[in-house]
Amino acid sequence: FCPHGRPQPNAKVNPSILKTNPKVVDTVDVEDISEKAVFCRCWRTKNWPYCDGSHGNHNKETGDNVGPLVVRRSK
Ligand code: FES
Repeated sequence: FCPHGRPQPNAKVNPSILKTNPKVVDTVDVEDISEKAVFCRCWRTKNWPYCDGSHGNHNKETGDNVGPLVVRRSK
């Protein structure tokens, strides 16, 4: 990051997930979500597209504050 908090022009968000794809797109059917689904937004999970808690280490190492998207069914 530059001193103004903006990412460097060549900085990549995704370090390792599906790097042979020109674009990573995921589709999940709502019907397949039972109670809730927790999706990764830090791009560090080993269980893409789901969160595996790796954002915790990423935040600790970088001072970032990213976390997952939780999709919940209302009761
Ligand atoms: Fe990426 Fe949790 S592992 S948001």
